[in-house]
Parts: sequence; structure tokens; C-alpha cells
Amino acid sequence: MIELKNLTKKFKETVAVNDISLKIEDKEIFGLLGPNGAGKTTLLLIIVTVLRPTSGTAIINGFDVLTHPNEVRKQIGICFQDVKLDWSLNYREILNWHGKVCGLSKEIREKRIADLTKKLRLDEAGKKSVWKLSGGMRKKVEVSKILLQRPKVAIFDEPTSNLDPEMKNIIWEYIEAMRDEHGSTVLLATNQMEEADELCKKDRIAIINEGKLITIDSPVKLKDSIPGGDIIEVKTNKSADAIKGKILNIDHVVDVQLTDNEAYIYLNHSEKIAPHILQLFIENGFTINKFKMSEPSLEQVFFKYTKRSLL
Ligand SMILES: Nc1ncnc2c1ncn2[C@@H]1O[C@H](COP(=O)(O)OP(=O)(O)O)[C@@H](O)[C@H]1O
Ligand SMILES: [Mg+2]
Repeated sequence: MIELKNLTKKFKETVAVNDISLKIEDKEIFGLLGPNGAGKTTLLLIIVTVLRPTSGTAIINGFDVLTHPNEVRKQIGICFQDVKLDWSLNYREILNWHGKVCGLSKEIREKRIADLTKKLRLDEAGKKSVWKLSGGMRKKVEVSKILLQRPKVAIFDEPTSNLDPEMKNIIWEYIEAMRDEHGSTVLLATNQMEEADELCKKDRIAIINEGKLITIDSPVKLKDSIPGGDIIEVKTNKSADAIKGKILNIDHVVDVQLTDNEAYIYLNHSEKIAPHILQLFIENGFTINKFKMSEPSLEQVFFKYTKRSLL
């Protein structure tokens, strides 16, 4: 649905996007994860034909941004990071106008605006023009435009920055519904790991840093790419010293560290291996007081590839 071919964008000496090539499939929720300044917004603005690439190109649903920008615009809807709204209008006027421009009938506009008003609590804005609203409220209006539009390709640039956890969850549900119920392809830029993790769990994430594509994979595979990234913590009635060698012999176990009655087992594929570990302890007469599994965060994945933290 989206293909980037050696996409590069320079602003004088800054290379904001550096030779990125990738393909995004139809009905994916594809995440672009990277710290501030990584080049996410620049990349999205090229896709939506606001910026021209310095070299390379982007093809959206078969249309090239360089040769067919008008057709590209018909495929897409974008929620900007820096909210772009007509400041003199109120939220209802903005949504109604946006829906009209996108060719939605009056009936559909009214139905979707009523639903968004209720679920996103937009009516708290009342009839105030958007320049009088808080940053979070403006962001909700910006996001609502795309949720109302339901474009073929929906692009969200940090859709939940400034929003509280409850509102984040509501917006995440809407974005998932765009793919699952309305058949949209979603491209999402974020610097929040939990957002990429949650929304892209069935699909893929591209990690980008300093304009470059570092890696692309599903969140699960990215986490599995850290050797010994999963941890199983077992608390028992006695030291596991006697079975340490046996634990280390289990496939995908990378390291074992012991204290008096606790074992920390570093491994991959913990969901598959955990039953074997549990069985080993029980067979050897241990009483299990605690058995806890944890997986690495995307933050650790990001650090592995870039040697820097995300924020
Ligand atoms: N219009 C512009 N003029 C000059 N430099 C820019 C412009 N837009 C972005 N940049 C620079 O390009 C780099 C990438 O920025 P951006 O795409 O906004 O990253 P992100 O969205 O990942 O935070 C940054 O170094 C930023 O300062
Ligand atoms: Mg940005």
C-alpha cells in the first residue's frame, strides 16, 4: 500500500531522512518508532505530499508522490503532530467541514460526529473556537478528523501526545478499528514504546534513528532479537544450585543467576520454555513460592540497536 524507494530529505546540511526503503502492506498498522529528531515527521510529510523528497520517492496505493500528488491526496488522511486547524471554528464546525471536503454524506457526518463527541468527550469544548482550547483538546479534534474520515491510508503523527492514559486507550481502540472494521492501512509515528507495542502487535515496527532505518520487524520478534532478553524469576524453598546445569541445558536459556532461594533465568521464547523450567523444579523436589515471567521492553530493543535511549 505504501512503498518508499531510497527516500532522502535534506534540509541544508541536515539529512532528516537518509535513504529509507520499505514496503507497508495493505491493512497493516505500521509503526515508525524513534526519538525526537529521528525524521519521522519529515518522512510522513513527504508521503502526504507536503514536502518534496531530495531524492528517491514514495508510492501510495500505486500513485507516485512526485508524478501523481493529487491522486495520492485522495488516498490519505493525516493527523498532524503540530495540530493544523482553522482556529476560528469550533470542533463541530471543523469536523463537519472536514467530512464535507472528504465527500461524506450529511447523514454519515452527523452519525460519526455524534459518536466521536460522546466517546472522546469533545462536547466539553462546547462552542468555543479551537484557539481557546487546551493542547490536549486540540489534539483530540485533530485525531477526530481522521477517525471521522476513515481514509484508505490513515497517517497519525504522535496521535496521543498530551493525552491522559484513558483517552489514549480510547484512541488506540479507534485506530485498531480503522484496520479491523474499515480496512484502512495505518502508518503511525510515535516515540512512545507502549503505543507502538500495543497498536503494532499484529503487524510491524520500523525503528528509525538520525534519519536512518535501523530495523523492521514485529514487536515480538524485535524483543526476541535480544539474547536472553526474557527473564523468569523462580522463588523456591532452597537454592537451585544443584540443578543450575540442567537449567542451562534447556534450549534458549542464556544465563542463570542464583541467590539463596531465588533463580533468575535469562532466556528467549519464555512462553514456550516456561513449562519445562517449572517441570524441572518440581521433578527435583522444589516447592515453588513464586514464578514470574517478564519480557524485554521495546526500550531495550531500541537501546540494543542504537546504543541510546528513546527519549
Ligand atoms: N523545515 C525544516 N527545516 C530544517 N530542518 C528541519 C525541518 N524540519 C525538520 N528538520 C530537522 O530534521 C530532523 C528530523 O526532524 P523531524 O522529522 O521533525 O523528526 P521527528 O518527527 O522524528 O521528531 C531534525 O534534525 C529537525 O531539526
Ligand atoms: Mg515529529
